Amino acid sequence: MPRFMASLLALLILAGPAMAQEAPPKDQPKEKAAAKTTRRPRPAHADTGKTFMGREIADVMSYLGADWLVRPEREQEEQPEAMLDALKIKPGDTVADIGAGVGYTSARISKRVGPKGTVLATDVQPQMIKMLRDNMKTMGITNVKAIACTPTETGLPDNAVDLAILIDVYHECSDPVATLKGIRKALKPGGRLVLVEFRAEDPDVPIKPEHKMTVAQVKKEIEPQGFAFKELHDFLPWQHIIIFEKPTKEKTDAPKGAEPAPK
Ligand SMILES: C[S@@+](CC[C@H](N)C(=O)[O-])C[C@H]1O[C@@H](n2cnc3c(N)ncnc32)[C@H](O)[C@@H]1O
Repeated sequence: MPRFMASLLALLILAGPAMAQEAPPKDQPKEKAAAKTTRRPRPAHADTGKTFMGREIADVMSYLGADWLVRPEREQEEQPEAMLDALKIKPGDTVADIGAGVGYTSARISKRVGPKGTVLATDVQPQMIKMLRDNMKTMGITNVKAIACTPTETGLPDNAVDLAILIDVYHECSDPVATLKGIRKALKPGGRLVLVEFRAEDPDVPIKPEHKMTVAQVKKEIEPQGFAFKELHDFLPWQHIIIFEKPTKEKTDAPKGAEPAPK
């Protein structure tokens, strides 16, 4: 196991066994989810009660379940290095890891951008930001900057980001229009927006439905917000990698109004 993974694990094992028992992570194996449903049927929209363009917005994954983000089997299930290879991140790049959690991927991106590059790691939960900062310190990583954000303020600088990535995050953004607007503002012209989402087209992907997305739904939501679809990679066991671009020439007309952001 790589040293930084071991550090993350050790930290979380020390910090959180009781917490993890109190609040199991939201994305859980199908069997466990099914058992829960049998005991207590959930009404539609039980999580947030919010929808966006016909999709239920998932609840935010609590920091109390942070150990799920560093589970040992994640490496095999999500193949983070192969996912990052597909993005061709360059040394010196500025990458925004939006909804970075405890920094599982931020640490890996930090190696790819190198000492001349920066990772801007944001999260809406201050507890996640604290764990992320602690983890980077433990690992001696200095090119990851932790940013506490809100659903409407990304906290990112304007026109500064080469690539913005949301790994298992977009489906739980409570104000997708505002978040996308902020990301668009932060990206350089030609900068890329990457969504990594569990495949909703595949019933065998063992994740709760509101935490999965189809490619069609992702395109339907992202394109009207001023992004051009570029590439789809589907080699990961469970997830789509969907890449969009901020056009190099700004259109004079504002991004088309989809549904108003949910309140
Ligand atoms: C399932 S976790 C994934 C964490 C991390 N991307 C990873 O793959 O390890 C989702 C994270 O997104 C964060 N989040 C949810 N909505 C967000 C938003 N609008 N902006 C930034 N972070 C958000 C949550 O607080 C949580 O830490």
